Amino acid sequence: MTDKTEEKSLDPENWEAFRALAHEMLDQALEHMATCRERPVWKPVPNEAKQSLMEPLPLEAQNTKEIADTVTKSILPYGVGNTHPKFFGWVHGSGTPGNIIAEIAAAAMNANLGGRDHAAIYVERQVISWCREIFQFPPTSSGLVVSGTSMASLIALKTARDKKLGIDVRKKGIGAEGAKLTAYASAQAHACIGKTFDILGLGQKALRPIPVNSNYEMDMDSLRAAIEKDIADGNQPFCVVGTAGTVNTGAIDDLAAISNIAEQYDLWFHVDGAFGALGWLCDDIRPKLAGLDQAHSIAFDFHKWMHVNYDAGFVLVRDGEAHRRSFSARPDYLSPEERGLAGGNPWFCEYGLELSRGFRALKIWWQIKEHGLIRIGQKISDNCNQARYLGTLISKEAELELLAPIGLNIVCFRYRAPNKSEKELAVLNREIVLQLQENGLAAPSTTILGGKLAIRVNITNHRTQLKDCTELIADCLKLGNKLK
Ligand SMILES: Cc1ncc(COP(=O)(O)O)c(C=O)c1O
Repeated sequence: MTDKTEEKSLDPENWEAFRALAHEMLDQALEHMATCRERPVWKPVPNEAKQSLMEPLPLEAQNTKEIADTVTKSILPYGVGNTHPKFFGWVHGSGTPGNIIAEIAAAAMNANLGGRDHAAIYVERQVISWCREIFQFPPTSSGLVVSGTSMASLIALKTARDKKLGIDVRKKGIGAEGAKLTAYASAQAHACIGKTFDILGLGQKALRPIPVNSNYEMDMDSLRAAIEKDIADGNQPFCVVGTAGTVNTGAIDDLAAISNIAEQYDLWFHVDGAFGALGWLCDDIRPKLAGLDQAHSIAFDFHKWMHVNYDAGFVLVRDGEAHRRSFSARPDYLSPEERGLAGGNPWFCEYGLELSRGFRALKIWWQIKEHGLIRIGQKISDNCNQARYLGTLISKEAELELLAPIGLNIVCFRYRAPNKSEKELAVLNREIVLQLQENGLAAPSTTILGGKLAIRVNITNHRTQLKDCTELIADCLKLGNKLK
């Protein structure tokens, strides 16, 4: 072995020992997923583990086995808990062991999917063409794998902005015309849509919050009225965002009606389908999403209801050329070639913000192939059945009340106790959620509906079973009775 340092790479000196360590870590990772039901849903990170993650900046190499030990002792056991069947918080998918394999291969290739001509590009193109097929988008539409729906919506709405203002806006900025642009989304739309308007220089106020009906769906008369008012005021409506599955209650806006209004007023129709869009895979949910296939753009996540391991989102844009024009930049050092490694045009960096892009597409491709869309869709339907089952259990208990209709997979309810004020009920229900989490029993989250604090149960979980729902309700009752 040479001791000339310039001839030493960062590769292991002893590949055999390294291979054994890697196999051991793979075993630990698989064990972690295989036994998720046996552990508490969530455990706070102990001080000892936190301490081990506050060490001085390492200037010298550390022992690889010790690094692996820190991972298995201080990091792996203290996750969010979303691999557990009783993880019901926010909107997290639950991941699959198959994706561990895909991630290993992706890490080994260390591919950059900004562009060029290599196999990973063809995998992402395959994913894009499958998405076109799922949502019945034309061959001229475009798509891009991104981190999540926030990024997907930003890309879609920038395309919409640039199409309205003309592509010169990329050089000149939004100017006086841009300042007049207005857009519309339900008051229940996700905060990422408002953030997008901020980032696009249009300002969050340009996004008009449209009131919702008693089902938490966008009210169509209010939408029309808001558009008409903006026209009368000299503003320029350019976009409407429908939500297919709101984060609070799982409500689905009337996408067909929004599509008609968008056509009438020449608006870009974007759908935030972060989790709900994949309901399109299910015969029993698709009718509720009627109009989704008419959208100009759809943003959704594979890491939610398709359970691809974090992170993996997607943007689908009907007008692929407008999408490319909105993001393409090919300076000299990124010049396209007809042949060679710089071929493979167009490059994915022409469809989004990022030039350096990892190989997220592989885990998506793997997931779809390993499980098939029929099975994945069945799990989505199962989650909606479980939500309805929870609703039935809640309706049978005098101490519990449902706070929103169950349209999809989200159940918002609370423990009620006579003679308690709204404020006291909020404290009580928040405490129930905290104790469920801290005792590792289940992990719902909270939200506020009509001023009332709700225990919010979201089921985007392929491991959840009906018995988990039964146990959740029993635990809520037990805690409520104890704490009231
Ligand atoms: C309806 C909705 N839109 C957008 C988002 C943001 O998605 P992401 O976290 O993937 O950026 C979420 C996240 O839960 C969501 O539920």
